[in-house]
Amino acid sequence: KAIHLKDYLPPAFLVQQVDLCFRLDDHHTRVISRLQLQRNPARKEHDLPLVLQGQQLQLIELKLDGRTLSSSDYELTDEQLTLTGVPDSLVLESEVEIDPLSNTALEGLYQSSGNFCTQCEAEGFRRITFYPDRPDVLARFTTRIEADQSRFPVLLSNGNPIERGELPDGHHFVTWEDPFPKPAYLFALVAGQLHPVKDTYTTLSGRQVALEVWVEKENLHKCDHALRSLKAAMQWDEQTYGREYDLDIYMIVAVNDFNMGAMENKGLNIFNSSCVLADHRSETDMAFHRVESVVAHEYFHNWSGNRVTCRDWFQLSLKEGFTVFRDQQFSADQHSPAVERIQQVAMLRTAQFAEDAGPTAHPVRPESYIEINNFYTLTVYEKGAEVVRMLSELVGRDTFRKGSDLYFERFDGQAVTVEDFVACMAEVSGLDLSQFMRWYSQAGTPQLTAESHYNPTARTFTLTLRQHTPATPGQDLKEPLLIPVKLGLVGPSGQDLPMEVNGELWGQERVVHLKEQEQTWTFHNLDAEPVPSLLRGFSAPVRLLLDRSPEQLAFLMTADSDGFNRWDAGQQLALLAIRELINQQQCGAAMMLNPALIQAYRQLLDAQVTDPAILAEMLQLPSEAYIAEQYDQVDVDAIHLARDYARKTLATALYPAFLKLYQQFAKNQAWSAEAAAVAGRRLKNTCLGWLVATESEEALQLAQRQFEQADNMTDQLAALICLAHAEDTTSGDPALKAFALQWAHDPLVMDSWFSAQVTRPHPDALERVKLLMAHPAFSLKNPNKVRALIGAFVNQNRHNFHRRDGSGYALLADTVIELNRINPQIAARLVIPLTRFRRMDDYRKGLMKNELERIRAEKLSPDLFEVIEKSLAQ
Ligand code: ARG
Ligand code: ZN
Repeated sequence: KAIHLKDYLPPAFLVQQVDLCFRLDDHHTRVISRLQLQRNPARKEHDLPLVLQGQQLQLIELKLDGRTLSSSDYELTDEQLTLTGVPDSLVLESEVEIDPLSNTALEGLYQSSGNFCTQCEAEGFRRITFYPDRPDVLARFTTRIEADQSRFPVLLSNGNPIERGELPDGHHFVTWEDPFPKPAYLFALVAGQLHPVKDTYTTLSGRQVALEVWVEKENLHKCDHALRSLKAAMQWDEQTYGREYDLDIYMIVAVNDFNMGAMENKGLNIFNSSCVLADHRSETDMAFHRVESVVAHEYFHNWSGNRVTCRDWFQLSLKEGFTVFRDQQFSADQHSPAVERIQQVAMLRTAQFAEDAGPTAHPVRPESYIEINNFYTLTVYEKGAEVVRMLSELVGRDTFRKGSDLYFERFDGQAVTVEDFVACMAEVSGLDLSQFMRWYSQAGTPQLTAESHYNPTARTFTLTLRQHTPATPGQDLKEPLLIPVKLGLVGPSGQDLPMEVNGELWGQERVVHLKEQEQTWTFHNLDAEPVPSLLRGFSAPVRLLLDRSPEQLAFLMTADSDGFNRWDAGQQLALLAIRELINQQQCGAAMMLNPALIQAYRQLLDAQVTDPAILAEMLQLPSEAYIAEQYDQVDVDAIHLARDYARKTLATALYPAFLKLYQQFAKNQAWSAEAAAVAGRRLKNTCLGWLVATESEEALQLAQRQFEQADNMTDQLAALICLAHAEDTTSGDPALKAFALQWAHDPLVMDSWFSAQVTRPHPDALERVKLLMAHPAFSLKNPNKVRALIGAFVNQNRHNFHRRDGSGYALLADTVIELNRINPQIAARLVIPLTRFRRMDDYRKGLMKNELERIRAEKLSPDLFEVIEKSLAQ
């Protein structure tokens, strides 16, 4: 069942041309395919059989070079079709029947809100027709779509439309041709009642490209932002990477039922509607940002993924890590680089670090898998992007561009590997990157321990860095990595000191390369003890272990020249204080918040606001998930109580300052999309959260007023969450009711309504989840709804999910068992929090394992089987 990277072999047959014809029908769609195949010269030595993948296909007819085959001419299983003794060059024609309306897995051809759409990555094409469904088989496609004209007026596929016409019985057809050879995972088809918003873009070399966003009629007013983002991304890729778009048309389609964020199908991206639609009345600033970054991400795939694609699915990070890095650079250029970095890292070191520490830990390039869909992970995407970021830091930005130019030029039209990419970077930089390759093969988060010593008589400062990567399942031994550590030494006056090492002048900032398990650097000519600022900009995805006093952290919070590290110093200071509170609880002592944290917050609030976006980030306490990451034994209740206590204590102590800031940013504004307005809303709503933490009458009234008067979703939803999370439900419940009445017609807004309720920190949250699962707007068949309700509860309401009575675990297991039959991909993702039992107390561990055993007793999809087996094997 498991597939291994080391077993890779090139395909036995290549496909020159694919001609498809779809006769669309709810339960009885016919797919007629004509493949021109040829033996792969690279495998010519054997008389290999022709193997085509196919799942849930009903074979109607099969012809080889025009001759109809009978069932004795081939071998057919649930998974594949095998033909032996075929000529070196052949034409294979097949007709199959499929049932899109019963397809709830949302892989292959399915229906969403009455429209047909496809999702073929990674292995969905085999649910459409028999095909060598692997990314290293690239072919030219034509696609003819036939359907009822009134139900399906719009018929889309990859490339350019070349023919259209009427057919008998009110049917019509359109034929599309994609001139670029592509793997089957980039195939797409859409049919239905959709409406376009159109624009154009002129490329750097002067070609006109038609841009179209296709949506349901009621969403036509929500497309401007996606189009604006697309044009910005197209221009950015020309300027930054020298990459131009290559077809005459670029289409984006929004669908309501989608397993992931979006899909980069050639010329025809299909998007989860939550990643395209944005109107300020119904979507938050965060949603706007997400739309912009996902639109850009899918666009960037046209080069990093489509023109140059992956040899096999083990290389997934070749396209995803690089493309996430590219979309992160894009966002940094559109907005504040420091804020972007802070938000990326906050996510990485909670969610990705947790993955690295859990039962499904895997390297950026996995070595084996049972179900590839389980590997569209934070490790492949986000850690993969960190690895590319480190490469770009190591070789330098200009050299990185030379390396990417070489990569795109050398491998255009090919399916390649991570080695091919890194080799380009090595070639243009002259660096030996062989040690660096371990970042792709070693799972787990490296720990970086730093120790320093100042010698006042010698006026030297020594810094020792040590690395250690803890064992992960199946990988006990870890070799030292090449870790780039960007650092500076901050002097007592708050300035970065010039660094001198072995007579060499380093300037005020430097990236040192930690290659050994342990290395020491000695800095000379220092008149006073500096405070080291390490891992600036989070220069490597590691866990930094470094003892610093509250005073040193408070100092760095204001003095560090690196914006990211100023923020991180604040996070570490808060973490220190919260850990003290956890200790106090565990010793049965009364909680007492470290005054250094209150003082640091006071300083933040009293200073003149120069950058509201950064200040809003500085005013976020570390999440419960990040706090939990610091412990081998996680006490969820103590963590929740400690954080809650810190929050209430700070809110009470600094109430007037929060109120002043709230009022300063609450006045005058009608909604605007400007960066300053976005930052202002974020800061204002952060302050509102702090004020409401006290549950004072006045604060709740402020929230109530903002809820009623808001002219945009950012403000309305922030106020709603404040009200809905208050212990006293007298204002929250009516607000939730009013909100549901106002937004019942908009499924995306209702997603936020579900999440707002189930993330409520109080003990009634679980009861509410159960009630809401019966709400008419909820459906287990819609992944967005599952994520908004169950996903939000299990991932963002940790102490309620981990209730000691086990009812959170049971609820998740019940849901996963049901989803296993409906949508295996979503089931396998949703179950993850239940598999993270290793750091829990023995009692909860037992409860969690029991639920996993209960799931295991079911007839499981490969997706869920793989996750459950790995977690019970730990
Ligand atoms: N390639 C897509 C993206 O990152 C993700 C689609 C993956 N879908 C899946 N079912 N595994 O933009
Ligand atoms: Zn992607």
